[in-house]
Amino acid sequence: MFLVVGGNSEIGSATAQLIRSRGGEVVCTTRRLPTAPNEVLLDLGGPVQDFAIPEGVKSACIFVAVARLAACEADPAGSARINVEQSAALTEMLAARGVYTLFLSTNQVFNGDTPHVPWDAPVSPISEYGRQKAAAERTLRALMREGAPVGILRLAKVVSPGMSLVENWKRELAAGRPIRAFHDMTMAPTPVKVVAEAIARMMEDRLPAIAQLTGPSDVTYADVGRSIAESLGVDPGLVQPVSALDNGMPHGSTPRYTTLDSSLLLARYGLTAPAALDVIREL
Ligand SMILES: NC(=O)c1ccc[n+]([C@@H]2O[C@H](COP(=O)([O-])OP(=O)(O)OC[C@H]3O[C@@H](n4cnc5c(N)ncnc54)[C@H](OP(=O)(O)O)[C@@H]3O)[C@@H](O)[C@H]2O)c1
Repeated sequence: MFLVVGGNSEIGSATAQLIRSRGGEVVCTTRRLPTAPNEVLLDLGGPVQDFAIPEGVKSACIFVAVARLAACEADPAGSARINVEQSAALTEMLAARGVYTLFLSTNQVFNGDTPHVPWDAPVSPISEYGRQKAAAERTLRALMREGAPVGILRLAKVVSPGMSLVENWKRELAAGRPIRAFHDMTMAPTPVKVVAEAIARMMEDRLPAIAQLTGPSDVTYADVGRSIAESLGVDPGLVQPVSALDNGMPHGSTPRYTTLDSSLLLARYGLTAPAALDVIREL
């Protein structure tokens, strides 16, 4: 049985759905009132020691996080409690009971100066979110060195069908209205279905590795806007390039590169993300 810690999250809900579609048994945690028989309450704001691990759970993945750069910057202590201390405490508790636990980390543990960063490069975060994920990784890597059943999967931008930014841009451009798109913010998007597959496989195999999964190359948000304009057959000049930094985006939100060396999951499971603009077109 699989434990999805944070079943309401974007990636967690897709992963639970994927495992169930193959006949796997999943229990999801929620901090809201549980409404389904396979849901249990877990608020990471409270003591994790009170959490009763459901009987039969063999593998878990922690999706719960304060996962936005701006939210971490606005409340470093409160977000670190969830992203670092409570995530690490829950991982320790699960691993001590023999439950394989996968922790989701981010390209933000690196400064973004180089592309395709290897998994074992020294961390170099510049955002508060990246510093917190790097701190959680440090605790988990110590557990892994002791032989605990723990894995880490680093992701960059994950995109889901119906992504609101893309939907809004499509609507505006189709109506002939201009959009503003960052020319200094990049992404190497991975479709959520590929990410969910990777997580499910790592949980099935209880893979005690640091894996990474991003798209093969970066494009700017302005590139994405122009690509949407072209596919709609409207004037790409409707895309007005603007600077993310000049428009108040948080520190660390404009790394030059977001790609990570994703060869482990390609070799092991044949999993890879298509080229960035193909991913956006698929949406
Ligand atoms: N999405 C990406 O592009 C991306 C990229 C790199 C890494 N990641 C990592 O992947 C993981 C999942 O990301 P995601 O985008 O799927 O997350 P998400 O959609 O932002 O969801 C985060 C979840 O955390 C829950 N949560 C927050 N505080 C909590 C608390 N105190 N107790 C219990 N639950 C709490 C939220 O619950 P409510 O629903 O009740 O608010 C929400 O369901 C995160 O670790 C994130 O850092 C994501």
